[in-house]
Amino acid sequence: MNTFNYSYAVNVYFGEGAAAKNMPAELSKVGKNVLLAYGGGSIKKNGVYDEMIKILNDAGKNIVEFTGIMSNPTYDKVQEGAKLAKDNNIDFILAVGGGSVIDCCKIVSAQAKLSEDIWEFEYSNGKRPTEFIPMGAVVTAFGTGAEMNNGAVITNTEKMMKSALWGAFYNFAVLDPAYTMSMPLKQVISGAFDSLSHSMETYMGSPRDTNLSDEINEATQRNIIRNIRETLKNPNDVQARSELMWAAAMAENGILKIGKATDFQCHMLEHQLGAYTDCNHGQGLAVLHPVLYKHYLPEATQQFARLATEVWGIDPKGKYESELAEEFIETLSSFIKEIGLPTTFAEMGIGDGSDFEAIAKSTIRTGGCVKKFTDEELLEVLNECR
Ligand code: NZQ
Ligand code: ZN
Repeated sequence: MNTFNYSYAVNVYFGEGAAAKNMPAELSKVGKNVLLAYGGGSIKKNGVYDEMIKILNDAGKNIVEFTGIMSNPTYDKVQEGAKLAKDNNIDFILAVGGGSVIDCCKIVSAQAKLSEDIWEFEYSNGKRPTEFIPMGAVVTAFGTGAEMNNGAVITNTEKMMKSALWGAFYNFAVLDPAYTMSMPLKQVISGAFDSLSHSMETYMGSPRDTNLSDEINEATQRNIIRNIRETLKNPNDVQARSELMWAAAMAENGILKIGKATDFQCHMLEHQLGAYTDCNHGQGLAVLHPVLYKHYLPEATQQFARLATEVWGIDPKGKYESELAEEFIETLSSFIKEIGLPTTFAEMGIGDGSDFEAIAKSTIRTGGCVKKFTDEELLEVLNECR
């Protein structure tokens, strides 16, 4: 295990009624002017908007709304939010939504306190912001675990990059499974697959020998797989949804990453696919994972074989490690089909592949991956996904 320091910044309130119970005390610690940020309006249909307005009014806050944050939030949207925050002397940001709203606000909170352009500040000057507007997150769509970390995935349409920017941790996060019951089932499944992907990407990092973080990780993966199946059997199963919501947070709250350098090569490739196609994140991962993993062999044989037996319950009797590793990839592939996620780009409506070369070239290579991919091999992966 690598050396590590573990401390945790976000105050998490989980369970039904958590907002009304806990937000008044949290809001009493922050200033009067609140930026209420949300997406395309789902919170107006499911009653969460009205509940937030009541909580903010009862706390005596002035509310400024920042609306229309799109899936795969753009850098322009970040700048719009930062201007709104500056112009209205915002003291606190309340992000209500899924990963897109939660990510966008992390960078709004930093950009509003920074005179330089934050993309240049982080990417050209290699700096990290240190001043932020404090924030709270109310999660209405789970999967990304974005509420648990300070990274934000932002699409810069000018540079054709969908990349991480680093912002602040949320002061608190409200995780009420009841808020997620109105999520479209497709989004529930692609979100849950994203959580499974985060767990696998962490597992596949290094060191690669058996360790406590990986054993907790195996349990998290088993839980996600089981509860995806339960949700498909009964989409109104609140218990399954609660488990998925907490599993999403577990995959990104740092515990599975303790003592490890993570992999996340599949994410880097999916993000660039997203920069060029604006595709759904979980769906992109579903298509890429099995194909990319075939290219991890033979380097990742041992870890794949362990996933086969410890997560997927494959009987190892009489099998070589290499056979188990291949069986893991096949099983993952069948599971993706079973739960109705796409298995090819064609099913996602991703076109002729004319951008594949640019996607492969611009994909960040991660230090934790079992191998360093060349542009050519990533292009092969993309072509195999068609
Ligand atoms: O915009 P509204 O109207 O709210 O609709 C949203 C959106 O269309 C809808 N939705 C959310 N809650 C709902 C609901 N619909 C009905 N009822 C509810 N309760 O769901 C749609 C998808 O929302 P979005 O936030 O885009 O999805 P997700 O949570 O999957 O977030 C995706 C973004 O997060 C990034 C992805 O790349 C993508 O940009 N990620 C962030 C990560 C992080 N910061 O740690 C890690 C991930 O790997 C990921 O890259
Ligand atoms: Zn993800």
